[in-house]
Amino acid sequence: MDIKIQKMIERTLVLVKPDGVERGLIGECIKRFEQRGFKIVGMKMVWTDKDHAMKHYTEDIAKRNGEHVRKYLLEFITSGPVVAMVIEGVNAIENVRKIVGSTEPRAALPGTIRGDFTHVSYSYADGKEIVIKNLIHASADKKDSDNEVPLWFNDNELHTYNMTHDKHIKE
Ligand SMILES: Nc1ncnc2c1ncn2[C@@H]1O[C@H](COP(=O)(O)OP(=O)(O)O)[C@@H](O)[C@H]1O
Ligand SMILES: [Mg+2]
Repeated sequence: MDIKIQKMIERTLVLVKPDGVERGLIGECIKRFEQRGFKIVGMKMVWTDKDHAMKHYTEDIAKRNGEHVRKYLLEFITSGPVVAMVIEGVNAIENVRKIVGSTEPRAALPGTIRGDFTHVSYSYADGKEIVIKNLIHASADKKDSDNEVPLWFNDNELHTYNMTHDKHIKE
């Protein structure tokens, strides 16, 4: 395969966070990635612990959003099971983020997962000293997906198989 084309085919990590699992929205989230033609190459339900969660929500989060946000996030992500997925496709990182929508539910556009199922604002969450519950995590960029995919999945949990999408969407 042409090296440029090969580089466009990316893998990205998605988590349906505890609010998504507890609200019964696992299938709704999966559906939106499938209908866009992406391939799920790994999937499992995991109840993560603080050590593991700290490697996922690193110091970067605290630098970007404040130490309090990282603390709430670590408590939240360890409060119940999450559904972890690795999604593969052309420009998957950017495309999946678009399907997921903006971080702040208030700003997330209808048609995105966050925009269709959540609505609160940063100021509401900050005033209540809670994390923004926006259902889903998706790797932000290549650097994050390179860290996050192996953090959640071993090589033998990621699968290579053909879908009809390979024929009808990508060719
Ligand atoms: N100001 C905030 N108040 C409460 N929770 C926040 C705030 N900023 C971010 N969060 C939470 O932290 C998560 C990680 O933040 P970030 O990586 O910036 O967003 P994203 O999940 O869209 O990549 C967000 O999805 C959200 O759940
Ligand atoms: Mg992020």
